[in-house]
Amino acid sequence: MKLLVTGKAGQVVTALIERGATQGVEIVAMGRPELDLANPQEGLFRIAVVKPDAIVSAAAYTSVDKAEAEADLAERINAHGPAALAQLAGELDIPIIHLSTDYVFDGSKLSPYVETDQTNPLGVYGATKLAGERAVASATDNHAILRTAWVYSPFGNNFLKTMLKLASTRPELRVVDDQHGNPTSALDIADAVIKVAGNLLARPDHQSLRGTFHLTGTGEVSWADFALEIFAQSARLGGPSANVRRISTVDYPTPAKRPANSQLDTTKLHSVHGITMPDWQSSTHNTIARLLAGAEDQKMEECHA
Ligand SMILES: NC(=O)c1ccc[n+]([C@@H]2O[C@H](COP(=O)([O-])OP(=O)(O)OC[C@H]3O[C@@H](n4cnc5c(N)ncnc54)[C@H](OP(=O)(O)O)[C@@H]3O)[C@@H](O)[C@H]2O)c1
Repeated sequence: MKLLVTGKAGQVVTALIERGATQGVEIVAMGRPELDLANPQEGLFRIAVVKPDAIVSAAAYTSVDKAEAEADLAERINAHGPAALAQLAGELDIPIIHLSTDYVFDGSKLSPYVETDQTNPLGVYGATKLAGERAVASATDNHAILRTAWVYSPFGNNFLKTMLKLASTRPELRVVDDQHGNPTSALDIADAVIKVAGNLLARPDHQSLRGTFHLTGTGEVSWADFALEIFAQSARLGGPSANVRRISTVDYPTPAKRPANSQLDTTKLHSVHGITMPDWQSSTHNTIARLLAGAEDQKMEECHA
């Protein structure tokens, strides 16, 4: 199986490159400058040349706060770019798997969101991602839209890495305690994307495998409790740790509003695609262990240099 993935150094694309290599799946990562989703028409022919079995639309404008001031650029990358990719997938007669977000919801529901719940994004990022979902769905029926959330990994920028970095210099961190969600490992997302792609290719006429699915780690937590778990595991492994002071969203104003409840219900993904996502604590442990081992390796290399 050959998957063309958009982006080069993002969390999910990096995880796909790694997980694909262990599962005999060829991953071709394509990003700027060859494929700029802000101007996709100039790079689309390169995708056709690769002759992929499926397209994975993982790249996005992901700076949630900056998007409030760069709405046009976010719209081009998150909505028009995926629209062009989905149209190409239709023309090539291959499936497209498009990554989306919990931020399509406003967070007012008191229980986990299911795929059919009313969307109502609170900010530009969520609105442009929702526009991307709709554009993909209208360009081709042969799609799977996977909404994920709270992504972390050993790669790129994410909450888990930020917490560990800050804990090495500060004794106490203020962390929001009134937003709840499902921390999700990019490596677990990669495994799920590969499984979904295999299912779509194995059963080209099976409509129920297509559509929108929620894809998050198992279990929910607040950002403050996620930070506490990160520090508890890090301390057990000999890494940095800090005290967590619980604060409210109103005490940490940001340009973009975030949903108070980001929890996504993954029952449909499990029943249709046979995917059970690992619990967030075990994947958090694996990520921290790997980051700390990497830091140790780097120290050893510096000693021997
Ligand atoms: N991170 C989260 O917490 C989160 C939560 C919910 C949903 N999601 C969704 O999950 C998907 C993967 O997220 P992620 O965490 O892997 O994101 P990420 O680490 O922020 O990476 C974003 C990727 O998009 C690429 N990109 C940005 N602008 C581009 C452009 N104009 N043309 C081509 N590529 C461009 C980046 O390219 P470079 O490699 O050149 O920088 C990078 O590879 C996205 O669709 C995102 O919306 C993420």
